[in-house]
Amino acid sequence: MEAELSDAEKGYAVYTRRTLSFYDRFVHGFSNRYIWKCPTEELLDLYREHISTNHLEVGVGTGLFLEKTLPDVELRLALLDANRDCLDFAAEKLERFRPELHQENLLEPLEIPGAGYDSIGLNYVLHCLPGRPEEKIEIVFDNLCRFLHEKGTLFGSSILSTDIQAPWLARRMMKSYNRKGIFSNENDSLGAVMEGLQSRFKTFNVEVRGCVVIFWGRGVRDGYRDRLLNP
Ligand SMILES: C[S@@+](CC[C@H](N)C(=O)[O-])C[C@H]1O[C@@H](n2cnc3c(N)ncnc32)[C@H](O)[C@@H]1O
Repeated sequence: MEAELSDAEKGYAVYTRRTLSFYDRFVHGFSNRYIWKCPTEELLDLYREHISTNHLEVGVGTGLFLEKTLPDVELRLALLDANRDCLDFAAEKLERFRPELHQENLLEPLEIPGAGYDSIGLNYVLHCLPGRPEEKIEIVFDNLCRFLHEKGTLFGSSILSTDIQAPWLARRMMKSYNRKGIFSNENDSLGAVMEGLQSRFKTFNVEVRGCVVIFWGRGVRDGYRDRLLNP
């Protein structure tokens, strides 16, 4: 008998070598434009603007955004994901950058050796994580800010269900994904993302495109990082 998956595991167990082989076409080629109403080009622009040569990517999927936006120079790249298939799939694609791989659950305290990062990407991950939006954002942002340089940037996007105008088909898809545990965004709101950024970063921005919030926060607030590093 197979053991029941935890809520966190349901958010990443769906990604296998097989599903990853059509993930980019289905999510970034089709769903973004026709269901979530946020063309993938908007997300690529976010990466082009904020990715650095000392980058940590969290929730890597296939590695598509890194492949398309990392500059072809000597750089430091780390990939973090709870799912080994995602790490291996992305690492093969990004082999030329010799990425460090970290298999970790983002909702637990993270062990990432070495110096901090100038940029951290968190794309389409928050909506996969279980928990109340304020709580999961607090855990994830706190976990990641420990590894962000003082002037570094955390950026990404997530599919919301509250504070947005979701078309009928998007609502249906979200309901079905939430029932299966692939998404856990039933209460995810723009307000929770803004609050999470505002309390931690000196500058931040959020934009909504269709069902998606695109966000970045730059410059960890004085005192906040010290409290994280010396609790
Ligand atoms: C929807 S995919 C997004 C992939 C990629 N960032 C993109 O935009 O195409 C979510 C990714 O987050 C990872 N993930 C989900 N829950 C996680 C968790 N609790 N800890 C670490 N990674 C997680 C999944 O394995 C998957 O790689």
